[in-house]
Amino acid sequence: MAAANGKTRLNGPLRYAHITGWGMAVPETVMTNDDLAAIVETNDEWIRSRTGIRERRIANERESSATLGYKAATAALEVADVLPMDIDLIVVATSTSEHVFPSTANRIQDWLGASKSGAFDLAAACAGFVYAVNMAAQSIRSGSINTALVIGAETMSRVVDWNDRSTCILFGDGAGAVVLQGSDQEGGVLSAVLRSDGAGHDLLSIPTQNVRELNGHRLGKMSMHGGEVFKFATRVVDESIRQVSQDSGITLNEIDLIIPHQANYRILQSAARKLGLDMDKFVSNLDRYGNTSAASIPIALCEAIEQGRIRKDDHLVMVGFGGGLSWAAMTVRWGIPEPSSLQANPLNRQRRRAVYALARIRARWNRLRRAWSNILRWSNPRNIRLMRLRRRANREKLP
Ligand code: UT7
Repeated sequence: MAAANGKTRLNGPLRYAHITGWGMAVPETVMTNDDLAAIVETNDEWIRSRTGIRERRIANERESSATLGYKAATAALEVADVLPMDIDLIVVATSTSEHVFPSTANRIQDWLGASKSGAFDLAAACAGFVYAVNMAAQSIRSGSINTALVIGAETMSRVVDWNDRSTCILFGDGAGAVVLQGSDQEGGVLSAVLRSDGAGHDLLSIPTQNVRELNGHRLGKMSMHGGEVFKFATRVVDESIRQVSQDSGITLNEIDLIIPHQANYRILQSAARKLGLDMDKFVSNLDRYGNTSAASIPIALCEAIEQGRIRKDDHLVMVGFGGGLSWAAMTVRWGIPEPSSLQANPLNRQRRRAVYALARIRARWNRLRRAWSNILRWSNPRNIRLMRLRRRANREKLP
């Protein structure tokens, strides 16, 4: 993968892509390890000692990857003080979209009233957020767009097999989002390493109705060879961190903070050991949220910022790994001031609220308009005659 100092230039000078806004949303319902022990044969001690997880959040029936992603997105737009109509691109990294299409990004674009934005979902499992930020950053750097909204949103509780104790204890629901904007100020996304090893496709998978063979897996449910995925993860995390820091011209010691995918505390410990880095350099919140797949990195990033762990000019490394198998790492030089000095313009805040409210009204109005035009179409005498003729022709065709 080309470093951010790659050669593409569409119009104007090469720009820098900075993270200027961030937000997260998690469901209110908390499921503790003890709650899980009532569902499958497990216990708090096993889960804590093997994974580091104490509890996770579970979406209610009114929540989905789209609703959680939307909440995280509105929070990120608030921090960046960006209006929905100024967004050029929305990318949602998710494996738990409500539909194959429309994408989760399409739904969020509509709810935000981001009327000038393209929108698509990106499927790279737990590495998806880093892939998506890189896609958006490269579009900004090439000059083809200026503002992107990148979201990682998941409702893993809908795809885990609640009878399988080796996977259902690991996952949770949530969403995180960032706004990326072009700037002439040096820094932002420096470089990225994106990798795939499709030979490991059956180690971690969720088959859809289009699958050729189920091979003992359940349709729409996740299955995982935990031990194999663990070995893969402990190999690629430190390798890709080394690679990406080298590509961006910084030493391992110059990394201020690593924001890893939150899969298992033991994977983070192994990476820290191999890299010779202190565990303090790794952000970990999996004790409270478990593994939220593509949402785990942006949620951890948000919490690290809110806890004051990231300062201007710090070097961050984000690293994701999972189904595919796919993995990705990215270095970012944090380019914006401390969050406390950021104040959204109150007028823009009102404008954002008005745009969201209008977007809701417009969506309802469009549905009504479509329903009404269908009623008119089918109550037209010419269409009724046509429909009768068609029915008769179909009857006559039958043997
Ligand atoms: O986000 C995508 C990336 N995902 C990951 O990175 C996940 C990577 N894998 C892992 O984190 C670990 O492999 C697991 C946490 C999934 C499993 O931990 P492990 O140390 O690899 O355990 P294991 O699968 O080797 O199982 C050890 C024992 C087994 O019993 P026996 O055969 O030794 O008698 C399991 O049956 O633990 C048993 N076991 C459990 N016991 C209590 C498995 N799951 C549970 C459980 N509660 N939930």
